[in-house]
Amino acid sequence: MSDARRLKPSPSAGEPIAGSARDGMLFAPESLTPLAFTPVYHTLTEPQRLGYNRVHGLYFLEQIIFFEQVMARPTLEWLIRNSPTPQLSREAEHFLQEEDAHSSWFRGLLRDIAPEQYAHGDFRLLDMGSLTHRLMRLPGSSVRFFPAMLWLQLIFEERALYFGRAFVSCGRALDPRFQAVHRQHLEDEPAHIRRDVLFLEWLWPGAPLWLRRVNVRALVWLMREFFLLPKRSGLRVVDTWLREFPELTPRKREFHDAMRALESDDAYLRTLYPKTGFPRTRQLIARWPELAALDDFFTD
Ligand SMILES: [Fe+2]
Ligand SMILES: [Fe+2]
Repeated sequence: MSDARRLKPSPSAGEPIAGSARDGMLFAPESLTPLAFTPVYHTLTEPQRLGYNRVHGLYFLEQIIFFEQVMARPTLEWLIRNSPTPQLSREAEHFLQEEDAHSSWFRGLLRDIAPEQYAHGDFRLLDMGSLTHRLMRLPGSSVRFFPAMLWLQLIFEERALYFGRAFVSCGRALDPRFQAVHRQHLEDEPAHIRRDVLFLEWLWPGAPLWLRRVNVRALVWLMREFFLLPKRSGLRVVDTWLREFPELTPRKREFHDAMRALESDDAYLRTLYPKTGFPRTRQLIARWPELAALDDFFTD
């Protein structure tokens, strides 16, 4: 992405989604939305549930743009410049071109649904904090010292496939625009996983063991802090949804507490990184013993 403004959190974050939602249709599978696992969800009316689902569906789109543009882009640019063979460098170049295309589809859909809210930026719901936002870009700028970025990339590519299949399996219950972009995204992601494996097979064994161990520690911390339980962004999704349903505002604390209680909800935790959704990551992890701690994230 050439326009750096798009990477800043939008100042309009938190305003209601005024967009062009089609009647009764989901923006995301309920099985991937955290609040749907809480008891409070069953106290909501159908329109209230749908309202939450739609805000969360937009948050999914923001997440994908974040992974593709904020996290993967610096890594891929580094790989284009530093790969040991022209062929590997070309793989990284195609990879980046495809991610740019994907981000443009997701960005287009965000602007289609909520043009005013996304007029000046891609991120209204995703809340990384501006310092974290900048920090997340640093490791990608020197992948030789932080090859863990490639593990993160592989995990998120497999996660994109796992999520994408769940979106497509919703069939006609899902808004056709969401169905179309997630279906299209599914087509390119297997090639990205193949490329991530090529990059890892080059860089990971080439790093000294001490550096690999430091990387695994950092990776485990990053996964726990940002990519496991719904924290900042999960609550921001809830708060944004509540602005559309003022009658629920007095229950804000109840919703926040219910979201926090998910940390001990097995049914929910099993949806995050199921072993069946991450076959390539797990196969590759098994080749290097220092990665054992990473395998603990995957559940039966
Ligand atoms: Fe993608
Ligand atoms: Fe991808």
